[in-house]
Amino acid sequence: MPIAQHGSRLGPQAGPPVPTEEVQMRWFVTGGLGFIGSNFIRLALRERCDLSIVNLDALTYAGNPANLADLADEPRYTFIHGTICDPETVDRAVGLGVDAIINFAAETHVDRSILDPEGFLITDILGTHVLLEATRKFRIPRYLQVSTDEVYGDVPHGESTEEDRLSPRSPYSASKAGGDLQVLAYRATYGLPVLITRGSNTYGPFQYPEKLIPLFVTNLLDNQAVPIYGDGLQVRDWLHVDDHARGILDVLDRGEAGEIYNIGGGNPHTNLEITRLLVDNCGRSMETHVRHVGDRAGHDRRYAIDTTKARALGWTPRIEFKDGLRATIDWYRANEAWWRPLKSGEFEEYYRRQYASR
Ligand code: DAU
Repeated sequence: MPIAQHGSRLGPQAGPPVPTEEVQMRWFVTGGLGFIGSNFIRLALRERCDLSIVNLDALTYAGNPANLADLADEPRYTFIHGTICDPETVDRAVGLGVDAIINFAAETHVDRSILDPEGFLITDILGTHVLLEATRKFRIPRYLQVSTDEVYGDVPHGESTEEDRLSPRSPYSASKAGGDLQVLAYRATYGLPVLITRGSNTYGPFQYPEKLIPLFVTNLLDNQAVPIYGDGLQVRDWLHVDDHARGILDVLDRGEAGEIYNIGGGNPHTNLEITRLLVDNCGRSMETHVRHVGDRAGHDRRYAIDTTKARALGWTPRIEFKDGLRATIDWYRANEAWWRPLKSGEFEEYYRRQYASR
């Protein structure tokens, strides 16, 4: 049923307000206060005047209400605090009728999964199962699982296609692969209208400062050293979060049910190359601000994905890596009030556990 609208305010980054219109589409987004989810919600509401979004987020350490503070007065946006592992909460939210479920909710940090794997299995596999059951029960017309290129495991040569064997090597990537397999099983068994996207390493504003780029940028801005694992020659393919969000939108719009779509930036760089760019940009030096530390256990040397399928839908990354990286560094420089509180409390404890004895 369409809902009458009262106009919308999408914050300073959003450009002019969108015209008042009637909502035709309702999406249920999970984990929408995390990094990719929050950027996705902002972009989707900005670009689609006829869309409303209900966001269920568990507010774990990486789920941050400040990520969508600019939507506080947005009538097309509703927030629910809760976990995807709780069927009652999920059923109550989607039972009102939604056109799509988009699942961003996940434990996502490889290093944390090495320290404490259990939570990854619970959210990434069991939580996915709860959402699939709701999709089945309420006959939701579309379900999109946001996954990762890490499920293919280490890729010494060439590029992984969607048909490649899954070979995850960390508790995190194994949990995501488990979620993907549940999604595909629900397609085969119950014929659910599911889609999977597998994104490459994503960077941009609002990323919790535990991952390579935001951790290193904030350390460097703070005049602290950055910890490079092993020889730093591991390769990751970098994708701007807006390009990732657009890829998800395109797959949601035009993807074929039951299919998987790789979404990669096409910007392969070693960690050392990334570090050099960040160090230079922050006005520091490799000699004084880089610390080589013990390698990550089971560290995948290289990821690389073939994005032909997503490109055939009309998607292509728009943001040049050098521009996106510079804008991201500038964003962290300008938004110290956002990241500074995140680097205390729980984070300090995690940082000690992760890096002190390395
Ligand atoms: O490929 C997609 C995946 O990218 C996502 O599914 C994950 O959620 C996301 O965390 C990311 O996984 P990575 O393990 O590649 O990202 P991370 O930023 O943790 O590390 C990137 C590379 O940098 C990796 O080779 C490890 C290295 N690294 C990372 C940290 C945090 C360091 O050398 N030092 C560090 O302190």
